[in-house]
Amino acid sequence: MSGTAPWWRSAVIYQIYIRSFADGNGDGVGDIAGIRSRLPYLKSLGVDAIWINPWYKSPMADHGYDVADFREIDPLFGTVAEAEELIEEAHRHGIRVIPDIVPNHTSDRHAWFQAALAAGPGSPERERYVFRPGRGPDGAEPPNDWVSCFGGPAWTRLPDGEWYLHLFAPEQPDLNWEHPEVRAEFESVLRFWFSRGVDGFRIDVAHGLIKHPELPDLPPRTEPAVLGPLSRREDAEERVRQHVDHPHWDRDEVHEIYRAWRKVADEFPGDRSFVAEAWADTPERLAAYVRRDGLHTAFNFDFLMASWDAKDLRAVIDDSLAMLGAVGAPATWVLSNHDVMRHVSRYGRRTVKRWLANERYEPEGPLDLELGIRRARAAALLMLALPGGAYVYQGEELGLPEVEDLPESVLQDPIWERSGHTDRGRDGCRVPIPWSGQSAPFGFSPEGASAAPWLPQPADWGERSVEAQTGDETSMLELYRRALRTRREHPALGDGTLAWLDTPAGVLALRREPGFVCVVNLSSEAYRLPDHTSVLLASGPVEDGLLAPDQAAWLAV
Ligand code: NOJ
Repeated sequence: MSGTAPWWRSAVIYQIYIRSFADGNGDGVGDIAGIRSRLPYLKSLGVDAIWINPWYKSPMADHGYDVADFREIDPLFGTVAEAEELIEEAHRHGIRVIPDIVPNHTSDRHAWFQAALAAGPGSPERERYVFRPGRGPDGAEPPNDWVSCFGGPAWTRLPDGEWYLHLFAPEQPDLNWEHPEVRAEFESVLRFWFSRGVDGFRIDVAHGLIKHPELPDLPPRTEPAVLGPLSRREDAEERVRQHVDHPHWDRDEVHEIYRAWRKVADEFPGDRSFVAEAWADTPERLAAYVRRDGLHTAFNFDFLMASWDAKDLRAVIDDSLAMLGAVGAPATWVLSNHDVMRHVSRYGRRTVKRWLANERYEPEGPLDLELGIRRARAAALLMLALPGGAYVYQGEELGLPEVEDLPESVLQDPIWERSGHTDRGRDGCRVPIPWSGQSAPFGFSPEGASAAPWLPQPADWGERSVEAQTGDETSMLELYRRALRTRREHPALGDGTLAWLDTPAGVLALRREPGFVCVVNLSSEAYRLPDHTSVLLASGPVEDGLLAPDQAAWLAV
């Protein structure tokens, strides 16, 4: 935690999906006690910070993204006192802590929504949310044609005749960010947690808070998006045109909110920072979130969605660095999270294609797991060599694949129900991770736990556990450990710039100063590594100076 550049410009942040990370009390669901028990693991992995998915009091209609009280921890996960202890302990390990904040919506059980329901149409209590009369005879049709990201209409009608807006599940009513009390409340919540020592926040649906005041229908060509706008470089102009007019995504007025949040963060000592979950149509629009007086960083989903293709990846990297660099912000790279298919399973499909947000669960062709793992190893070295910060989603360091065969009876993601059982949802990337042993719960829960893990783990996950991989120099875990160690020690890595080296089609080689080169071979032929270099780290065996297809190497020049 030293140096002059703020930590968030180059941090490797480990994402903890709290339900599935480690279960301390044996109820089959991960919790704060579990995280505390695994801090030494995170320390030895070498991450700088942890981002913890929502831990607040919640009826769990969307596993915590439906918050009933932002100042309470859900009893399933622990207590505020335990959260404070975790923050302190993590700091003692040199690890910063970033909780999630969910400002776009609350739970329908939040005191404000309950009050709005009780107070009835036209009441001031309803003004904190987005209530409207319906259209058509008797107002029986929704106020507009907006669709929920989880499927179905974005409006639900109450027995008193009014409709309320929910861009996600009906249990997640959208707040009205034009209301001063909403703004004041969130600033107060930020202060509540900042004063308990958190180092920043991940902002959920950061691009969704502001709605067009007239709530017009969607523009004609807007495709239904699952978690946000689609991203396609080919029709960038069209995307910009559609997007500035989009009635509820990425509206310009949203930045005003974050300028105020930045001031709140700056009231506290020690480089507190925000990362926005903002699905923006272009790198330019993403950069607008991270201007100097706004948020610090934003996830770069273009990198996650890029195909396993040298041209596509290079274009995404160049565009991101150019646009973020222009506003003085660092890039943040991410390959997986709790909303998308794990990248081992994405890359393990032969078809080379750009991964769109709404195609997460319809992979093309059978999975070649070995190929997926080989590419995932190379992708990790590429990601960790790029200028800026990086996110590691729990289990990616173990090379976990998506669990694609969860029985329908155990699926819990609201997407499964809301899509009329056409989209299996995100449970496959949320299965509790394996720590040790040869049978479930694989050390996820303590011995003698009273309940099985909340989602069943594949029977063969023993061979992917932390215990099984530790000390095996060929394992994904040891690759991540070495990469993170090297990244920490090497002066060329982290924040900064890169220069591309000339390479044949299908090969990427980037140089960083002083004296570092990362080569990734995305072609189908072996590539001869440049002379006068030595291999610092490689994603697979390098023989006779040849880098095999789907491999990457870090070189000292
Ligand atoms: C984005 C989160 O990452 C996702 O898990 C959640 O369902 C939605 N926002 C709604 O809060």
